[in-house]
Amino acid sequence: MAALPALFGLLMAVVVTGQNLDITPREAVRRVGDDLTVLCKVPYPIDACRMTVGTTSYRLIPNNQEEEIVYAGQGLQHGECGAHIKHIKEEWNGNISCTLPPQTGQIEVIGTMRLLVAKAPANPQLISPPQPAFREGDGFMAQCIVPNGRPAAKITWYLDEVQLLAGIHQPVITSEPGSDLKTISQNVSRTLAPEDNGQKLVCRAEHEALDGPREAARQLVVHYPPKRLESGPITIFGLKLGGEGRLNVTIRANPAPTTEWTVGDLVLIPPRSNEDGSITALEPLHLGGGFYNVTLVLARVAKEDVERTYYLRVTNDLGREEFAVRLSTMDEPAARKSKTSYLIIDVYGVELETGAIVGIVIAVLILLIAIILVVFAKATGRWFFAGSRGRDHTKSSGESTPAGDVLLESGTLPSRTSDTESAAGQRSRLSALSARVRAVLPRGRDRVQATEPIPEVEDKALAEEKKGVVYAELALGDQNAEKPPPPSTEYAEIVYTDQPAPVKEAKE
Ligand SMILES: *[C@@H]1O[C@H](CO)[C@@H](O)[C@H](O)[C@H]1NC(C)=O
Ligand SMILES: *[C@@H]1O[C@H](CO)[C@@H](O)[C@H](O)[C@H]1NC(C)=O
Ligand SMILES: *[C@@H]1O[C@H](CO)[C@@H](O)[C@H](O)[C@H]1NC(C)=O
Ligand SMILES: *[C@@H]1O[C@H](CO)[C@@H](O)[C@H](O)[C@H]1NC(C)=O
Repeated sequence: MAALPALFGLLMAVVVTGQNLDITPREAVRRVGDDLTVLCKVPYPIDACRMTVGTTSYRLIPNNQEEEIVYAGQGLQHGECGAHIKHIKEEWNGNISCTLPPQTGQIEVIGTMRLLVAKAPANPQLISPPQPAFREGDGFMAQCIVPNGRPAAKITWYLDEVQLLAGIHQPVITSEPGSDLKTISQNVSRTLAPEDNGQKLVCRAEHEALDGPREAARQLVVHYPPKRLESGPITIFGLKLGGEGRLNVTIRANPAPTTEWTVGDLVLIPPRSNEDGSITALEPLHLGGGFYNVTLVLARVAKEDVERTYYLRVTNDLGREEFAVRLSTMDEPAARKSKTSYLIIDVYGVELETGAIVGIVIAVLILLIAIILVVFAKATGRWFFAGSRGRDHTKSSGESTPAGDVLLESGTLPSRTSDTESAAGQRSRLSALSARVRAVLPRGRDRVQATEPIPEVEDKALAEEKKGVVYAELALGDQNAEKPPPPSTEYAEIVYTDQPAPVKEAKE
């Protein structure tokens, strides 16, 4: 029956602990030799402070700072009972508890924290398939085990210097029964690619008790058949007739490929030349990363060299690839050469670079603004730079105005004055407008040329040009096809006598 009060006391202690005593930290990881301060607090003054570290209970007195474990805190009157542990020992791994007198009653108050004295794990072990080489596309899985650390070690994976984040599995932490040493293991899985060849897969273990990370690694060897870098036939540009010609093809393969060139009936396996030394096949040159330059040298490029096709066969253990190579004496097309521009848009096979795109956008914007201005002006009846408002546009256009644009403005006016809001009027106005926009450029030129004597030949060319534009005008103005243009050679007059006519007809 003596067990009953004891059990009751234990129960009370637990209850009191939960309510009044505050212990910090609740858990700590320290290396052997580190220091640690544990502080217990109660909200009332105390007259004693005991701390159990390992198997020993220490009575802590604020004035005594000489021992290995000494009092820490603001004083017993503040309800503080702390321990400063100067040098942690391995055997202190476990619970540290403080025992304080209660505020009332007999049962002491106990607080407990957990100290983990870090213990370095054993070296990491990387377990992976034993085969020395893999093939592109193979699934690869490796496991890293870092045994017996306290606490468990932390594992990170690297491929050379780059941390691996994809394909990392959840770590699994286990421990032997009765031991607080933890073994961590983690798997990584990956589909192997050509880029992985030659890379080092690294399992890195980090732990509180280690001064630096420890690593286990293995080299990845990934084999793959020869690959071409660009599809379709290859053309070597910029060759000079009579000069040396180098046909180089860059390929990728692992293991190293063998090559074979076929030129007509001639088959060359490098390093070899034909009898007269005019064609030489060079050994594949490894550029690193599985890339090889395969080169055929023509001592002097002749016309027939440019006309034929060269065949290259590249072979390794895993397969082969064949190439057809043609020569060109032209320079490489610019669009293919300078792909440095930030933005390139491929429009029906024509690549537009940023500059061209911006130019087109600006041109479209300017055109839009011009159209909006014209439409607005017509709608409000106000011109930003109006000239005469006369119905007699023939006269106004006949005036020797210095600039073509003034002509344009005065020319549009008549259709406004004879304006109606009828749909027909609007439609013809619209066609007139678009025609006028087209007409601006040639007319402007006309004006300039009209002010000075023009040579006969140019005049003729001009007449041709005018004819073309007049034709466009007639086609656009739908109802006035039967109305012949006035007998004037001045292009501007044709335009402006034409346009108002349908409007007037529509009104009637
Ligand atoms: C340490 O304290 C925890 C509660 O905080 C307790 O569950 C555990 O049994 C104690 N361990 C030892 C060794 O006393
Ligand atoms: C990790 O890999 C090992 C063998 O490679 C396997 O036995 C184990 O089940 C794997 N664990 C996980 C979590 O994938
Ligand atoms: C061949 O090499 C030249 C420079 O040596 C290079 O400009 C050209 O792009 C290469 N051609 C191919 C197809 O690799
Ligand atoms: C290998 O080919 C590349 C382009 O394909 C070229 O830039 C380089 O100059 C070539 N190297 C040699 C040594 O021919």
